[in-house]
Amino acid sequence: MLAAALATLALAGVTTARPAASVCADGVTTVNNPQCCFWANVRDRFINEIFLGVCQENVHSLVRIAFHDAIGFSLTDPSKGGGADGSIIMFGDTELNFHANEGIDFITAFLQPFADTVGVTYGDAIQFGAAVGLSLCPGAPTIPAFVGRPNATMAAPDLTVPEPFDDPDKIFARMADAGFTPVELIHLLASHSIADQAGVDPEPQVLGAPFDSTPFSFDSQVFLEVLFEGILFPGSGPNPGELMSPLPGEFRLQSDKRFSLHNETACAWQENALSQSAMASNFQTAFTKLSLLGHDQNSLLDCSELIAQAPPATASQGFFPAGKTMEDLEIGCDAEAFPTTLVTQAGQPTMIPPVDVQDIAFGN
Ligand code: HEM
Ligand SMILES: *[C@@H]1O[C@H](CO)[C@@H](O)[C@H](O)[C@H]1NC(C)=O
Ligand SMILES: *[C@@H]1O[C@H](CO)[C@@H](O)[C@H](O)[C@H]1NC(C)=O
Repeated sequence: MLAAALATLALAGVTTARPAASVCADGVTTVNNPQCCFWANVRDRFINEIFLGVCQENVHSLVRIAFHDAIGFSLTDPSKGGGADGSIIMFGDTELNFHANEGIDFITAFLQPFADTVGVTYGDAIQFGAAVGLSLCPGAPTIPAFVGRPNATMAAPDLTVPEPFDDPDKIFARMADAGFTPVELIHLLASHSIADQAGVDPEPQVLGAPFDSTPFSFDSQVFLEVLFEGILFPGSGPNPGELMSPLPGEFRLQSDKRFSLHNETACAWQENALSQSAMASNFQTAFTKLSLLGHDQNSLLDCSELIAQAPPATASQGFFPAGKTMEDLEIGCDAEAFPTTLVTQAGQPTMIPPVDVQDIAFGN
């Protein structure tokens, strides 16, 4: 049967440059690097037991913790932490009390026992988990999956994670200390395309209020919607770090709005608003760098072959939510004209529903 199939391929002139795949011990999974068999099982367990197969709250939380763990790092000051090392879990008694880490305890409660059970370090559980999780989000790029991070040896100190009420220049300085330019920060903020809040405004009606109208799709909509003039507070606002949002149910971070208007970042913001493909590839580069902070890539095992390509985003081009027009935009980028070709959704403006909390299928 196999021989016949191969003969057919040979007759058809099909050749392949790939190395022969190895079959893992389960008899089903095939990999090019046999060392990745173990990680194929971790991947499948992440998808089935933590993410339940969808780009919802648990994927969103994994991507947030991936940032908060990794950014405990400085190019010049080793006391700022070991980067993407899992210290936020290993030293959770310290780091989870920092104000900026409000709400991170929720995913940690799943992730810590999961990592202990499957036998991976917290640094790998966080970064590998984020790469696997993003593969479930329509529109997301594939994130290379490097593994083999050692255990963290110290907690990161307080104030390495930016707050939404911080001035842009203060945030740029913190990111520069960790090796990121203001434009690279904008590229990382594509993550806010799959994001919502619970702690900036703790009122129940904005528990899970998303930052854009499409929180289950890794699309450019967040960059576009932040450009609209704010007209309402969806909950009890104003709260520190919050500005008025353009749509009922939607939540706006002060930092996001200010980046969209800042002369160092407004054009990078607009570029992402106008191009789904640029946004995805910009994020791929910046997030890969983030996931490797504190590590030498050459000392890690590359299991990127395990990460599936996410499905395409529902809309390949940003759209104006119903009721919004060019008149509602606040443009910060002088260098590039804003095109007049974006289409407004038909119908009446609607309330943006919150993102629900998700259970897990692990340890029950
Ligand atoms: C300027 C820097 C940033 C600030 C001030 C900021 C601030 C925030 C805040 C306040 C929330 C809401 C948290 C809550 O109330 O539950 C949030 C959510 C989130 N952030 Fe950021 N963030 C920043 C950068 C980033 C970066 C670089 C990433 C990842 C690469 C990221 C990923 C996320 C994700 C995925 C969520 C949603 C979490 C969820 O829905 O559970 N953020 N961010
Ligand atoms: C990380 O620490 C745990 C104990 O907390 C230990 O079981 C595990 O072997 C360590 N992993 C590595 C790679 O050092
Ligand atoms: C932004 O404006 C400040 C002064 O307000 C200036 O020093 C800086 O060079 C400007 N940056 C860019 C990229 O134009």
